[in-house]
Amino acid sequence: MKNISRLQTLNHPLFARHQVKVSIKRDDQIHPIISGNKWRKLKYNLQYAKLNQYKGIISFGGCYSNHLHALAYACQQQQLKALAIVRGESINQDNYTLSWAKHWGMQLSFVDRQTYRQRHETDYLYTLQQLYPDHFLVPEGGSNQLALEGIGEIINELNQQTTFDHLLVPVGSGGTLAGLIKQDNNQHNILGIAVLKQSNYLLNEVKTLLKDNKSHHRWSIENDYHGGGYAKFSTDNANKILQFSKETGVQFEPIYSGKMLLGFLDLLENGYFNVNQHIVLLHTGGLQGIAGLVEQNRLSASEWPLPPAPPAW
Ligand SMILES: Cc1ncc(COP(=O)(O)O)c(C=O)c1O
Repeated sequence: MKNISRLQTLNHPLFARHQVKVSIKRDDQIHPIISGNKWRKLKYNLQYAKLNQYKGIISFGGCYSNHLHALAYACQQQQLKALAIVRGESINQDNYTLSWAKHWGMQLSFVDRQTYRQRHETDYLYTLQQLYPDHFLVPEGGSNQLALEGIGEIINELNQQTTFDHLLVPVGSGGTLAGLIKQDNNQHNILGIAVLKQSNYLLNEVKTLLKDNKSHHRWSIENDYHGGGYAKFSTDNANKILQFSKETGVQFEPIYSGKMLLGFLDLLENGYFNVNQHIVLLHTGGLQGIAGLVEQNRLSASEWPLPPAPPAW
C-alpha cells in the first residue's frame, strides 16, 4: 500500500488577520474507506499478519468505531479474517459502521463494558490468543509499534512537501501523536488536541508508546477542547465546524478532526502562534462517523452529507 496524501493550503480571513499560513494534510482522502490515520496504522499491521501467516486479525472498538470499519474492509481486501470485540450491545449491529463491517465479513462479538475494560490486560489477551491462535491481535484504535511506523511516514511526506512550524493532530488513544513525535524527532512543534477528558492517561499512553528514553521535547497535548468528553459536542460547536467546512470546502466531523479544528481556531485567536508561522493540520479522516451521528439524530442529515457509500465488492 503506497499512497501519498496531498497537502492543501487553507484560506480563511482569520489566517490572513493573524498572518499565519495554514495547510491541511488530507489523509482523509488517502482511500475512500481506509481513510486517515487508519490507513497509516493498519498498513504495517496487515503486512506483519500476512508475512507471519496469520489467518486473521482480532481487534477492539465501539459501535461506531472508525478503526473497526476500516479494519473490516482492509482485511477483506487482504483475504484475512476479521474478528471484532465490540463494546456495547448487538442492538447496534445494523448501524452504518457495523453493517458495513459485517458486509466485508467481519465477525462481531459484543461484550459488556466490564469485559471490554480488560482489552489491555495480559490475561484477557492471552485467553483470546489461545482461542484464536492463528489471529494477530491489534489493540483498540490500532495503536501499537507497527502503527507508529506507518504514521511516521506522514512526517517523511510532509518534509518532502513543505517546511512548517507546527503540526496539529487530534488525540484519541495516542498512537497517531506518538508516531508523529517519534519520526519527527524534534524537528517541529507537534501539538495534540485531546478529544477526551483523561489528560494524564493520554500523556502516559503517548510516553509508553514512545518508550521514551530519548528526549522528545517538542510536543504537548492541549486538554481544553474535548467539548465535554469523548464523542460529546455542543450544537454550537457542531455548527462552527460546519460553517468552517462551508468556508473552506473541507469536510470535518465533530469527534476528532472537528475538535482539532476548534482547538486550533481558539489557539490562533489567543495568540498561540507567531506571525508568519506555517501550521499544518492533519486531517485524520473518520468521516464515516458522521453516519452514526445522523442515525442517532445528533446531526441533521440535510446539513451533514454522508460520506459516499463504499463501492460494492
Ligand atoms: C478519525 C480519527 N482521528 C483521530 C483519531 C485519534 O487517533 P489516536 O487514537 O491514534 O490518538 C482516531 C481514533 O483512533 C480517529 O478515528
